Amino acid sequence: MEVTKQIKKFFNKYNSKEKILVTGGLGYIGSHTVVELIEAGYEIFIVDNLVNSNIEVLNGIKEITGVKPVFENIDCTDYVAMDRFFSKHEGIKAIIHFAALKAVGESVENPLAYYRNNVISLVNVLELMPIHKVEGIVFSSSCTVYGQPDHSPVSEDTPLQKAVSPYGNTKQICEDIITDTVKANPNICSVMLRYFNPIGAHPSALIGELPNGVPSNLLPFISQTAAGIRKKLSVFGNDYNTPDGSCIRDYINVMDLADAHVAALRRILDHNVEGVEIYNVGTGKGLSVLEILSTFEKVNEVKVPCEIVGRRSGDIEQIWADPSKANKVLNWEAKVSLEDTLKSIWKWQLHLSENEENKEKVKGGVKMSSLLHGS
Ligand code: NAD
Ligand code: WQD
Repeated sequence: MEVTKQIKKFFNKYNSKEKILVTGGLGYIGSHTVVELIEAGYEIFIVDNLVNSNIEVLNGIKEITGVKPVFENIDCTDYVAMDRFFSKHEGIKAIIHFAALKAVGESVENPLAYYRNNVISLVNVLELMPIHKVEGIVFSSSCTVYGQPDHSPVSEDTPLQKAVSPYGNTKQICEDIITDTVKANPNICSVMLRYFNPIGAHPSALIGELPNGVPSNLLPFISQTAAGIRKKLSVFGNDYNTPDGSCIRDYINVMDLADAHVAALRRILDHNVEGVEIYNVGTGKGLSVLEILSTFEKVNEVKVPCEIVGRRSGDIEQIWADPSKANKVLNWEAKVSLEDTLKSIWKWQLHLSENEENKEKVKGGVKMSSLLHGS
């Protein structure tokens, strides 16, 4: 009996999966990353307060991976609850910290909600890391820290500019907090990933982006317009100093972005990160609003009614990444084509619309639109 126990213990020690906490793991980028982490063999623990996500996402993750990760509905700004979480789930080796509010306009209207949520959540996890022997943290930063750069592509050394929104400022402040904390504490390290414009959905269409209300981001607006939920897309400006006059961004597929987290995490767990490392996560290619729009229509064989309107205040004219540091050091690169990415968005939109229609049918007998079975 004793021998069996010992064998079991030995087996567990050498086969046990590394435990990773994913805060905000039911959100858009978090859920796709959780899928990739599970498939890479990690044991995942999710903390999310569902302020911008839905518990049903957990079922989507289970359906894709066959694994339902541990989930706790906790607000990361609650230090006591987070401390209790780490004590309950001993042995967390690293954290991927997605939990944050992210709506730029909302942050201008309610800056304190953004400073409180985004900054205090981070401070709590950083304080708890050495107490619970967590070795490293991957932080969700953003290309928003570069503001309007003098030229693109931007590398990680491109000087940062004053943030144009409280949201953007929380990312700059959080980067500084991490840098100072890691400098003062040699037992922890961090990889900060500066995402460019994440788009797309899991190819299964079982998880994807769940925009709240009227989307302010381009792709959810395009797909909702194609589905007839919005009347037409407003293209914000065609008089920029770009080849077709519309703004240019670096659109990164969310599965590729998820894989960048797996690579960053591996680097932390292999003890290859000393202090803080920063990586741009983008494709290295800039695409205009009009190029995105026409490609979406073409690959999905749908029409997106649109009109050119004036510029949106605060918009950056053009920015795209130099991802060569991530390509080289993380051995990561964006792989999914723009065409497949835009197809995944449409497939996800149809899935969402179908669920909505099904709900409506239960309520009052709405006829299923032919659109839903169109592709
Ligand atoms: P999201 O809103 O879909 O996901 C964030 C998740 O965090 C949500 O599930 C939300 O419920 C949760 N959350 C927020 N505050 C919390 C708190 N205090 N405690 C517990 N859970 C909390 O957003 P996303 O697009 O997946 O973004 C993830 C991260 O990436 C964020 O930090 C965001 O700022 C950053 N980012 C996003 C983009 C983008 O365009 N989507 C670009 C650059 C950086
Ligand atoms: C992309 C382009 C618009 C909607 C935002 C955040 C940033 C970062 C990424 C988190 C722009 C144009 C859009 C529409 C349009 N997030 N557009 N009509 O502005 O690059 O960045 O997401 O860190 O902080 O600000 O993304 O998707 O809003 O816009 O013409 O209805 O599409 O003008 O040129 P953006 P976006």
